[in-house]
Amino acid sequence: MLTVKKVTSSPLLRISLLLSAILLATANFADDSQQPLQLAALTEGFNAEQTYMQSCFACHSTGAAGAPKVGEGNAAEWAPRMEKGLDAVVNNAINGLNTMPPKGLCFNCTDEDLRAIVQYMLDSST
Ligand code: HEC
Repeated sequence: MLTVKKVTSSPLLRISLLLSAILLATANFADDSQQPLQLAALTEGFNAEQTYMQSCFACHSTGAAGAPKVGEGNAAEWAPRMEKGLDAVVNNAINGLNTMPPKGLCFNCTDEDLRAIVQYMLDSST
């Protein structure tokens, strides 16, 4: 009992639970929207910066939950991650990584959209 109490009072776990709730809510929404699957191309009218602002900025501008920060002066946040190669980093954005949710919660994004956003994030982090 003591252990359970300890764990649930951990701020990190509380954030994880909150993120899971958000993820579930958004996933249900995505199911209802019946968007056609487009995995190999950029979505028409896609804008990497705009989509970044909508889906990724909340975590990646502040470093919430340990997210690598994006923007000037943040190159060092990305250098160690890029050691495994761009493809691996993009795949982690697509599939999720620890508290990084799959597709960064952009469920309309194709794999190519996500690759373009990751490229935008890297280009912005100088
Ligand atoms: C709910 C918060 C959250 C949102 C929203 C989010 N991220 Fe992340 N992201 C994280 C966290 C936390 C990490 C660090 C995960 C780790 O290394 O354990 C991360 C890591 C990453 C990485 C590095 C992966 C690697 O291999 O090191 C990329 C790329 C990334 N996110 C892209 C995105 C993109 C693109 C979006 C928007 C479409 C997005 N993220 C939205 C929290 C978030």
